[in-house]
Amino acid sequence: MVLFLGLQAFKEAWEMACSFRARTRIVIPAGYNFLVHPVDFGGPCKSKVTLDILGTIVAPEDPAAWKGLNRRKWLYFHGVKHLTLEGGGTVNGMGWLWWAQSCKINKTNPCRNAPTAITFHKCKDLKVKNLKVVCGQKMHIAFTNCLRVLTFRLIVTSPAVSPNTDGIHISASHGVNIKDSVVRTGDDCISIVSNSSRIKIRNIVCGPGHGISIGSLGKSNSSSLVRDVMVDGAFLSNTDNGVRIKTWQGGSGNATNITFQNIFMENVSNPIIIDQYYCDAQMPCANQVWY
Ligand SMILES: *[C@@H]1O[C@H](CO)[C@@H](O)[C@H](O)[C@H]1NC(C)=O
Ligand SMILES: *[C@@H]1O[C@H](CO)[C@@H](O)[C@H](O)[C@H]1NC(C)=O
Ligand SMILES: *[C@@H]1O[C@H](CO)[C@@H](O)[C@H](O)[C@H]1NC(C)=O
Ligand SMILES: *[C@@H]1O[C@H](CO)[C@@H](O)[C@H](O)[C@H]1NC(C)=O
Ligand SMILES: *[C@@H]1O[C@H](CO)[C@@H](O)[C@H](O)[C@H]1NC(C)=O
Ligand SMILES: *[C@@H]1O[C@H](CO)[C@@H](O)[C@H](O)[C@H]1NC(C)=O
Repeated sequence: MVLFLGLQAFKEAWEMACSFRARTRIVIPAGYNFLVHPVDFGGPCKSKVTLDILGTIVAPEDPAAWKGLNRRKWLYFHGVKHLTLEGGGTVNGMGWLWWAQSCKINKTNPCRNAPTAITFHKCKDLKVKNLKVVCGQKMHIAFTNCLRVLTFRLIVTSPAVSPNTDGIHISASHGVNIKDSVVRTGDDCISIVSNSSRIKIRNIVCGPGHGISIGSLGKSNSSSLVRDVMVDGAFLSNTDNGVRIKTWQGGSGNATNITFQNIFMENVSNPIIIDQYYCDAQMPCANQVWY
């Protein structure tokens, strides 16, 4: 059964919870599917908010629902402190029509943006735990410009053939802790980019997918500093890559103090890769190394 929790209803619940002075909990009850259109959940909030997802949140299936809206976002949390997402329920991006429209799947399609299912932007002291996130339109979960994130008991799944469906993406964030989770998608299980630091990843099951990746870094001659990354305890199976650091030519910066340990792999094509000529573009990248 689909309950049409209109954009207004969810937004209103958020506004109320966010402006309430005591700790509040928004509950998505078990046993229901809630169709939720692209929505921004903005902070700061007056107190700590918990979004308790017991049931299922589903995205509109048809990309046309994004007409006139930002195609990069579906559930977008920004500027919130002490937010918790939990509950054992499911967030379903319903991504199949987006995948079919991807230029990675069919070269005659134009390359256009697709939403990250759940984005946390500029969030502080965030907890995301005990949830399933499935069939992301593009990336499943992204932490961008966040400080202090604790994530555990997540199950993230999409078909191996779904394009650019990174499981967990960390960008310009510090103090991110991810543990006890399973990621099976069509792209990186976990990717760490642009000026991120103090990232700890423990007890992760990964595959299919493209493995655990630092980068890509340095695209379009940009500069990036990724440091203090510890991946301790991962089982990767049926992935293209195992652990990887990838940088574009022309970029600058450093990837320092990166540790991968206790990594077990089975049927992984490229177990360890450090690629300083990464090029994920429709045209071949021009050589920028001059002797
Ligand atoms: C690719 O897309 C074009 C245009 O939409 C379509 O005609 C063609 O059948 C598609 N090819 C495949 C292999 O799906
Ligand atoms: C990383 O930080 C530096 C210095 O603040 C900034 O110039 C650069 O644009 C950042 N890189 C990215 C990819 O955000
Ligand atoms: C990066 O810098 C190189 C060398 O200066 C230049 O040829 C190239 O066009 C630049 N690329 C981009 C994407 O700005
Ligand atoms: C390297 O990173 C670890 C976290 O993975 C941190 O505890 C340690 O202090 C860092 N070492 C240096 C020299 O910064
Ligand atoms: C090995 O992994 C590839 C994907 O990288 C998959 O297609 C293949 O079925 C796997 N082989 C076995 C024996 O599981
Ligand atoms: C990267 O490391 C090198 C060598 O340690 C250092 O000279 C350079 O300044 C660092 N770059 C940045 C952007 O921190």
